[in-house]
Amino acid sequence: MTISSATARAHANIALAKYWGKASLEHNTPAVPSISLTLDALSTTTAVTFDSAMADDYVEVNGVLRSGEFRSRVCTMLDRIRLASGSSDRARVTSSNDFPTASGLASSASAFAALALASVKAAGLPWDSARISDLARRSSASAGRSIFGGFVRLRAGGTDDTFLAAEPLAPREHWDIDIVVAVVSEDPKKVGSTSCMIHTQNTSPYFEAWCGLCPVLASRIEHAIAHRDLDMLGQATEQSAFAMHASSMAAAPAVFYFEPATVAVLQAVQAMRRDGLCAYATMDAGPHVKVITQAPHTEKVVARLMDVVGVRRTLISSLGGPAVVLSE
Ligand code: DP6
Repeated sequence: MTISSATARAHANIALAKYWGKASLEHNTPAVPSISLTLDALSTTTAVTFDSAMADDYVEVNGVLRSGEFRSRVCTMLDRIRLASGSSDRARVTSSNDFPTASGLASSASAFAALALASVKAAGLPWDSARISDLARRSSASAGRSIFGGFVRLRAGGTDDTFLAAEPLAPREHWDIDIVVAVVSEDPKKVGSTSCMIHTQNTSPYFEAWCGLCPVLASRIEHAIAHRDLDMLGQATEQSAFAMHASSMAAAPAVFYFEPATVAVLQAVQAMRRDGLCAYATMDAGPHVKVITQAPHTEKVVARLMDVVGVRRTLISSLGGPAVVLSE
């Protein structure tokens, strides 16, 4: 009997320049470039044990045995590891999030990044971070970015099965930024990001315009990061989020993630700026609003968000580091 284990932790990330659309569904390559920042306050810890005595893969998240689509995405990654290592051993995967999973904030990014790192280490593969990012990206493209800390870029991919890893742009020490998440609902999200982006790509007349805009916004955001220009970063980040949502609202049938409280928060963010506060909004495939700000504005931004009717709570994060191995 052979047993080999490793445990890894990876942080969630939020995209400033959004990934929305696939160059290849089969190879999970993004149609557009994206840029993210890694969040210190949200992470997933995953333990992987390959065990020759096991008959099948076992997948557990927050103490609950998982079956169905999530389990099969995990097994697909484990199969890639088995192919690379020449082993057929099944694995026990146990994963937990340090943030409430039911909040709708649960992200596949931290989950598949932690799984990629833990399973590569458990299998004893001598892979570098880029190769691990490529592995994570194949399961969930945003997960490729969570292998790195600070500011991270993932270029658009091709239609074939070529290597595509995220790249670190700047470490977290480069720029002190805070993210405040305004949680507006505790319900699980209604339409997942994968299915909504595919639906948008297939049916929205705005998808082509979205693809044209993305490289422009990504290079503006890269420039803003390099020069620590928060106004430039914030404006381009808002444009990316709202253009992404507009493309999905124009899909047939339309998908919109906005709750009444989402709109109230977006208006509050504009009012904060009029009052001289530094605050810019972004949203992913859910109703919560993530506000980018900076000390000394952070506490005032949190207070103003808590005053908005419908905001249940806020979560504050600074920039996080790369995915790490906790034990092997
Ligand atoms: C709106 O990475 O979840 O959060 O590759 O199909 O797993 P798959 O999609 P996923 O999409 C993330 C979409 C987004 C924007 C982003 O993170 O860039």
